[in-house]
Amino acid sequence: MADADPVSDFAAAVLAGLAASPKVIPARFFYDRTGSELFEAITRLPEYYPTRTEIGILADCAADIAARVGSGRAVVEFGSGSSAKTPPFLRAVGASAHVPIDISAEFLGMAAADLATKLPELNVYPLAADFTQPLVLPAEVAELPKLGFFPGSTLGNLGPAAAVDLLRAFGGTLGEAAFLVIGLDLRKPAEAIEPAYNDAAGVTAAFNLNLLHRINRELGGTIDTSAFAHRAFFNADLGRIEMHLAATRDTAFTVLGRPFRMAAGETIHTENSYKWTLDQARLLARAGGWEPVALWTDPVPLFAVHLWRRAAAAIEP
Ligand code: AVI
Repeated sequence: MADADPVSDFAAAVLAGLAASPKVIPARFFYDRTGSELFEAITRLPEYYPTRTEIGILADCAADIAARVGSGRAVVEFGSGSSAKTPPFLRAVGASAHVPIDISAEFLGMAAADLATKLPELNVYPLAADFTQPLVLPAEVAELPKLGFFPGSTLGNLGPAAAVDLLRAFGGTLGEAAFLVIGLDLRKPAEAIEPAYNDAAGVTAAFNLNLLHRINRELGGTIDTSAFAHRAFFNADLGRIEMHLAATRDTAFTVLGRPFRMAAGETIHTENSYKWTLDQARLLARAGGWEPVALWTDPVPLFAVHLWRRAAAAIEP
């Protein structure tokens, strides 16, 4: 069920979120074309450690993963993939097919073109669909054993309950005897995390503020974006980075003709990025229907790559 009606989905979420107290807009709406380009730029920032740290861990552990799960699996990637992570991973684990799943057919097409130049012999079966629901995979990979791939700590953008639901949906999509390789950012002191979301070049601020520009572009918004500032901080009680757009002065605007006002200091909550301890990650795996098999970190450690196996249905006493 690709691209149901993205504009009205966006419109409904923005109108409901701006009417809520406190104001909130789901982080998935960051990723229009400009937002996706800004996110790509974030992944290359010196302060944003997750991407390069995970790439390093994957380079070191992929052979071990292949030894544990066996080569020849269909790698089912939740998201359209990154050119820096996906091709080396597919090569190292000896994938026999690749099924990237993304709601955006456009992003899938771009990723498939990139992969075709890097791994021309690999069979790729892109699936334009919402991976938060259990899906039927292409018939070509039906008989192959599956290896799910969900890098980037993208799971951290969901709260614990939604994260568990997503992991259960992955289990439904991948089926019995599947493995999952998942990257999760580690819980650390605030000082070690906050710079990654407050870069000196202001790219994360631009990424956050693009949401207001997107509302103006797509929903006829009249938001004075100069009245807002990027805020990102670690909420230690909840174990997450929070991003907000804070009104720096009293401001009023309309969206789709509907009026809103914000007082100086009021914020729109735009993103959570949860950071998990290794114990929390283990609990998350089990709650989501997976059994931890192995994990690898960088030496600091900043970030972890986990290998989980789909849990067999337990017979409880
Ligand atoms: C996509 N996701 C894992 C990123 C994160 O770190 O939570 C999104 C991001 N937001 C600000 N910088 C990066």
